[in-house]
Amino acid sequence: MLELRDLHTFYGPIEALRGIDLEISQGEIVSLIGNNGAGKSTTLMTISGILKPQSGDILFEGESIRESAPHKIVRMGISQVPEGRRIFPKLTVRENLEMGSFSGRGDAASAFEMVFGLFPVLQERQNQFGGTLSGGEQQMLAIARALMCHPKLLLLDEPSLGLAPIIVSKIFKTIREINREGVTVLLVEQNARAALKLSRRGYVLENGQILLRGNGAELLNNNDVKKAYLGEQI
Ligand SMILES: Nc1ncnc2c1ncn2[C@@H]1O[C@H](COP(=O)(O)OP(=O)(O)OP(=O)(O)O)[C@@H](O)[C@H]1O
Ligand SMILES: [Mg+2]
Repeated sequence: MLELRDLHTFYGPIEALRGIDLEISQGEIVSLIGNNGAGKSTTLMTISGILKPQSGDILFEGESIRESAPHKIVRMGISQVPEGRRIFPKLTVRENLEMGSFSGRGDAASAFEMVFGLFPVLQERQNQFGGTLSGGEQQMLAIARALMCHPKLLLLDEPSLGLAPIIVSKIFKTIREINREGVTVLLVEQNARAALKLSRRGYVLENGQILLRGNGAELLNNNDVKKAYLGEQI
């Protein structure tokens, strides 16, 4: 479904992605783990067209989207949940969700039904301002907003950041549910253990390069991963 080929992305003179190769098949959950500054968010923003790569290619369903504008990429079926949630605090929950459905993919009514099914709390609070929700509810709103355009591929940037463990497990359960409904997921996480457990495959990013790749269980058992990302003493 998605293929990154030798992707290089710069911020001015800083080379943040130094040749990324990555593939995702339809129906998978794939996780991308790595330390702060490894290039995880840069990878997602390059896929969604917010950043333009200097070289390399991005193929979505066989078509290059490297030169495509972000709104076109959304319309093709790729939706991103940015790091740090970034909902609209002064809009109501319902208005936040409506903002997510402007891409013109599918109809809003069935999207509302789907996201209210996944997150009943958002239905209860649909007239409340986004900014008055708890951190966990704001994360749910950010995910729900991204689902409003019926994406084929969902890019999630650190959905568990700063949330209490019980909320984290709720969010991870919901990611599994979203995937079961047919949405392919690329999950960026600091919480490597939970992400790899949920994922079919994973990639470890370090300094803008792919250090390791493998299926979830393989990476969980890899000694380097255990030491560097799972906090285990080897
Ligand atoms: N706007 C920017 N301008 C200049 N450099 C940037 C910018 N954003 C990111 N970088 C640099 O690019 C590299 C990759 O950053 P990126 O945000 O992709 O990392 P990350 O893996 O998402 O980290 P984190 O886990 O902290 O979110 C880092 O060295 C960072 O300092
Ligand atoms: Mg990041």
